[in-house]
Amino acid sequence: MPAMAFFSPGAGRDLLERVRNLSLRNQAEAIRVRHLTKVLRGKTVLSDVSLDIPGGKTTVIVGQSGVGKSVLIKHIVGLMKPDAGSVFVGDLDVTTLPEKALNELRKKFGMLFQHGALFGSMDVGENVAFPLRKHTRKSDTEIRDIVAEKLRLVGMPGTESYHPSELSGGMRKRVALARAIVLEPEVVIFDEPTTGLDPVTSDAIDRLILETQEKLGITYVVISHDIKSTFKIAHQIGMLYRSQLVAYGPAPNIRASADALLRQFFEGRSDGPIQVL
Ligand SMILES: Nc1ncnc2c1ncn2[C@@H]1O[C@H](COP(=O)(O)OP(=O)(O)O)[C@@H](O)[C@H]1O
Ligand SMILES: [Mg+2]
Repeated sequence: MPAMAFFSPGAGRDLLERVRNLSLRNQAEAIRVRHLTKVLRGKTVLSDVSLDIPGGKTTVIVGQSGVGKSVLIKHIVGLMKPDAGSVFVGDLDVTTLPEKALNELRKKFGMLFQHGALFGSMDVGENVAFPLRKHTRKSDTEIRDIVAEKLRLVGMPGTESYHPSELSGGMRKRVALARAIVLEPEVVIFDEPTTGLDPVTSDAIDRLILETQEKLGITYVVISHDIKSTFKIAHQIGMLYRSQLVAYGPAPNIRASADALLRQFFEGRSDGPIQVL
């Protein structure tokens, strides 16, 4: 790794320390996306996207299917590299972070992917314990206590021995959230948490998102095309359209906006300025 030649070993350790000590809770600009551009298969998926995500709040990014919402969050966790622009988490530039520091940074992120199924071969307890076993040296007793506490927090107490196949879709989401927060991350990213759930279960998951965000006080970034859900949980709302961030601001402002794109999207109409493919 020739790039490492620029860092003395001491500087590398300092960087890892900075990642470990990262705290975003009270930062107005916890995550800063700057002029982010990404081209995939010759198509500009994101074009000059900039936004500041506040710490300790819930930010929801909405937009049509295929607009680049998942691509945006992959840049935030460093799973994709931009063609132009940068992404800062705290004062760390994710796009230039060496692999070792990036791996350390990923422990600060809890992820709840759209199709992020639980491991089918493990019971609920083992699923939630998995990040602790992988990233910490905690004892079995400590792990058992932490898992029990997180399962309580998501309304699934005492379900350690259940197999994922025995759970409903909503219960699996709850367990997935317990797993996402088990390392007490600074940021939790939800990719379409209510997609595919019935309206009643969706509402229960929205409540869970609200309650846990308030209780934990950490930064939630939610990707969604569910408008009802968005208005229930969001402090901040951004909208992606044709590779650009066309609106971004506090939820009440976005909700009251007369912008034609926003209105059409929120009202779920196919007639209007939004091009429907
Ligand atoms: N790894 C990839 N390679 C090539 N194209 C991709 C990749 N990931 C996403 N895309 C394309 O980028 C666009 C945005 O995808 P995505 O972010 O998943 O949309 P969504 O807003 O539904 O989450 C789509 O056209 C998709 O086909
Ligand atoms: Mg997606």
